[in-house]
Amino acid sequence: MPGGERTALRTQPALILSAVLLGGVAIAFLGAFIFASQPEDAPSSSINAGLYAAPLATALAEASPAAGEKLIAEYACSACHLAGEGRIAPLFPGIADRAAERRPPLSAEQYLYESIVRPSAFLVLGYAAAMPINYADRLSPSEIGHIIAHLLSLKGDSNEGG
Ligand code: HEC
Repeated sequence: MPGGERTALRTQPALILSAVLLGGVAIAFLGAFIFASQPEDAPSSSINAGLYAAPLATALAEASPAAGEKLIAEYACSACHLAGEGRIAPLFPGIADRAAERRPPLSAEQYLYESIVRPSAFLVLGYAAAMPINYADRLSPSEIGHIIAHLLSLKGDSNEGG
């Protein structure tokens, strides 16, 4: 029937329009849901005394400060963590004591672990985010442990508070 065909053609744009509107609403809801669920994963809301406990235990299991000192030379950490004009990173001497205070409630071990594997989680005041972010891929868990063990042995005052 020609009349019926015309009716079907007239109702189609309205159907398409409501489908588009429904789709838009669905996408808006999805976006709002994703946005609202993000803060729960943000590092700032998950800092607690047990943070990194498992990987730290693995890393520190057989950690050797002497091996850590060699790795720090091998990986040229001192390219940035070196005293002198235009130094761009905090010095290591005395870092064991500073690390214990930097980011409560994180212990010195937890803070050092985070500084190496997730340097962007916390920035030392006065420094730029220049620390490479890929050490978690370049260093094995036990190498990270050696480095932490060495840094933990660097106690006492340094003339640089960072
Ligand atoms: C390209 C420069 C650069 C290199 C290379 C580098 N760092 Fe860093 N590092 C920084 C900067 C800048 C900061 C301070 C800003 C921040 O908190 O990320 C920092 C911060 C740190 C801190 C926290 C220091 C503190 O006083 O709180 C530790 C620990 C650290 N680095 C360890 C290392 C180790 C270990 C290596 C080598 C495996 C290394 N870094 C290589 C630039 C560098």
